[in-house]
Amino acid sequence: MTRYRLQLRHPSGVTPIHVGDGVLSDDSSQLEDWVLDRRVFVISSPTVLGLHARVLAPLSERAATWNVLEVPEGEDAKSLEVAGSLWEAILEAGGKRDSRILAFGGGSVGDLAGFVAGSYMRGIDYAQVPTTLLAQVDAAIGGKTAINLTKAKNSVGLFHHPQRVVADTRLLRTLPREELRSGLMEVLKMAILSDGELFVALERDLEGLLSGDAATLSPVVAAAAEGKISIVERDPTERNERMLLNLGHTLGHALEAGLDYRLLRHGEAVGYGLLFAVRLAEKRGLSADTAGRIRQLVDRFELPKLPALEVDTLIEFMGRDKKIDEGGWRWVLPTELGSCEVVSDLAREEVEQALQAFLTELS
Ligand code: GLY
Repeated sequence: MTRYRLQLRHPSGVTPIHVGDGVLSDDSSQLEDWVLDRRVFVISSPTVLGLHARVLAPLSERAATWNVLEVPEGEDAKSLEVAGSLWEAILEAGGKRDSRILAFGGGSVGDLAGFVAGSYMRGIDYAQVPTTLLAQVDAAIGGKTAINLTKAKNSVGLFHHPQRVVADTRLLRTLPREELRSGLMEVLKMAILSDGELFVALERDLEGLLSGDAATLSPVVAAAAEGKISIVERDPTERNERMLLNLGHTLGHALEAGLDYRLLRHGEAVGYGLLFAVRLAEKRGLSADTAGRIRQLVDRFELPKLPALEVDTLIEFMGRDKKIDEGGWRWVLPTELGSCEVVSDLAREEVEQALQAFLTELS
């Protein structure tokens, strides 16, 4: 079995990122050392614990104490109340500055656990064991941690890199197809952004990938992770280049917010965001051939139908996106497969008209 041993170099050190089918068992010696004789706080959700808790058994035997802290599923976990209850529980159970937090779950669990780790006693170490495809290719990598405000996702957070990331693609077997689709959309985003070969692999293997086959998924997860690592290393605190990772997310985040984070999974919303970015990019010279290939591939994901939404509502949510600074909107638009540009000179009216036409075509 192929294992991928990657590294992310960042201002506070180096994070090893291990990807592969069964890598959690192989890698256990390193995680085992990391938890050895420590108080360990596992932050996870009921579903993940129900499906996978036993894979952590060898680690639990090495820890001085092993506390499992359950949080709600999905975005509901990323609230100030849940973070507060975790800080209190960790303190109550004797958590010290050299205790460990293990994030065991999807992107929400990872974001929350990283935030709790980064702020508890001004920052303690944590590791990510992501259990969804979205978390393995994106959320567990990069050091951004966050909780949500009522009307703005990820608006309170800090940069705090995990000590290690162990992305075992075997854990993805239990994911529903919709969840794989959501994660694969972030892979597609990375492919359009920086990796034409990855795009071709998606065109070739989409069915196997959507069925959760660990062997097919491993190289794709590793390639997407490498793409993200390389951008984050060049811009760890999101001053410039990391903005590229926002491809498909300006509209994607607005759709999620406009639908109250309920009807579309993150990657599904990003899928619509990618289609809209292609539309804007075509007006600036993206070739019809490339635009067509991207559209065809997104079509094969069979995104859920978009409910009726008002342009004004979406524009308002886009205005609240934290990636918008006082200079206004910046759009990430593809220029060719594997390359994108950041554009800040699109007039608001132009975007509104394009969005109206986009929504009308979809309805
Ligand atoms: N935690 C996700 C990122 O840093 O981009």
